[in-house]
Amino acid sequence: MTITYTITLLPKDYPDPSTWDEMISRQKDLRLLSLQIAPDSFSSTFSRESQFTREDWEARLKNPQAFTFIASPSSNSKSSPAPPISTFKITQEPWIGSAVLLGPLPLSTNPPSHPSTKASGRSELRSEENHITFEICALFVMPEARRLGVGNALFEAVIVHGKSIARERGCSLVCFRVSTAESNKEALRLYEKLGFKVVARNNFLSGSTGAGSCMRGTLSMELWSEFGSD
Ligand SMILES: CC(C)(COP(=O)(O)OP(=O)(O)OC[C@H]1O[C@@H](n2cnc3c(N)ncnc32)[C@H](O)[C@@H]1OP(=O)(O)O)[C@@H](O)C(=O)NCCC(=O)NCCS
Repeated sequence: MTITYTITLLPKDYPDPSTWDEMISRQKDLRLLSLQIAPDSFSSTFSRESQFTREDWEARLKNPQAFTFIASPSSNSKSSPAPPISTFKITQEPWIGSAVLLGPLPLSTNPPSHPSTKASGRSELRSEENHITFEICALFVMPEARRLGVGNALFEAVIVHGKSIARERGCSLVCFRVSTAESNKEALRLYEKLGFKVVARNNFLSGSTGAGSCMRGTLSMELWSEFGSD
């Protein structure tokens, strides 16, 4: 089976109130569905997020450090993924997947795991001027659209966006972090295929139900990209 799809970065606001409302409501619906369909894949829960108000969902979209990418089927292109569509059109298509880029993270949460930092002891590589760190979270693809490259395309779009922010800030290195349950073989294979490496195994339970908390048996993975070498 082949599918063409497009990946769109949701805006942080929209001039037409009804289109903006539609985006907020669809973002909420897809996220709640993901928490119901794949409860073991996320550190947050349906019972927690179903209590969120419209303002909470709107704040997620408006957050200057959160970039929400949406996958939708596309009928107007033979290539896969298809070229971007207009922001308005995204509200008229079904949403089949999403992923969120968070960051840049504050320096205190930057990872010290870059191989050349460790090997050479060049502590200056850890400085904010040289590298920038992002977290990628909330990856979800609707069951009927899986194994067709949608998750891969979402991640590639997220990584391209993170790199463009890094370039704008004059950083020569960018680190992307993900966390996944060790038992989530689909996600693990996807991350490994994209070049992520395991940097830590967390066998503790941190936080309670927050989106950033770690579950038992969670793997922390990183992908480093150095400009000029890719
Ligand atoms: C993980 C998930 C996003 C993958 O989405 P997807 O669109 O099916 O992924 P893709 O089709 O782009 O697959 C990319 C690669 O991931 C790996 N992969 C994905 N699903 C797999 C499966 N069921 N079995 C083995 N490998 C799998 C493969 O390496 C695949 O490449 P290939 O098809 O060339 O072999 C999807 O299964 C999902 O939404 N799961 C529930 C939510 C979740 O676990 N999110 C991640 C939280 S950390």
